[in-house]
Amino acid sequence: MSIDRCEIIDLPKISDPRGNLTFIEGCHQIPFAIQRVYYLYDVPGGAERGGHAHKELHQLIIAMSGSFDVILDDGNNKKRVHLNRSYNGLYICPMIWRELDNFSSGSVCMVLASNYYDEVDYYRDYAEFMRARGQG
Ligand code: TYD
Repeated sequence: MSIDRCEIIDLPKISDPRGNLTFIEGCHQIPFAIQRVYYLYDVPGGAERGGHAHKELHQLIIAMSGSFDVILDDGNNKKRVHLNRSYNGLYICPMIWRELDNFSSGSVCMVLASNYYDEVDYYRDYAEFMRARGQG
């Protein structure tokens, strides 16, 4: 699983003078069925989130409001993705280390996930993640 598989998905946007509308259906606009939704909000300036990888979880990250950066790392390559549009989602495949920073004031980060919360699915130690990738 390389960071090349992690890409911005342009979600449908129904533009309307009354306000725009975007929708996401599991397995249609995104490559997994949605089992869980969670969101980060009231993030203080300078805070960092993430700092882990998932063994099997697929996720889509959306800046519902404001902006932030996601740093993706597959052990070989890293890339920083700036999210600031509520009609763009960043797809993250399993086995990618991610960090989130540069949160703007009042930003909301929504995450769609392919499974329920399970701590067993996490790598929280970077060295362990690298060993699991055969790169440690
Ligand atoms: P964590 O995944 O480390 O947050 P982030 O990656 O956004 O920095 O989770 C932080 C805490 O919240 C941790 O104690 C686990 C708990 N948690 C749940 O109980 N359910 C969830 O769906 C998520 C994502 C986290």
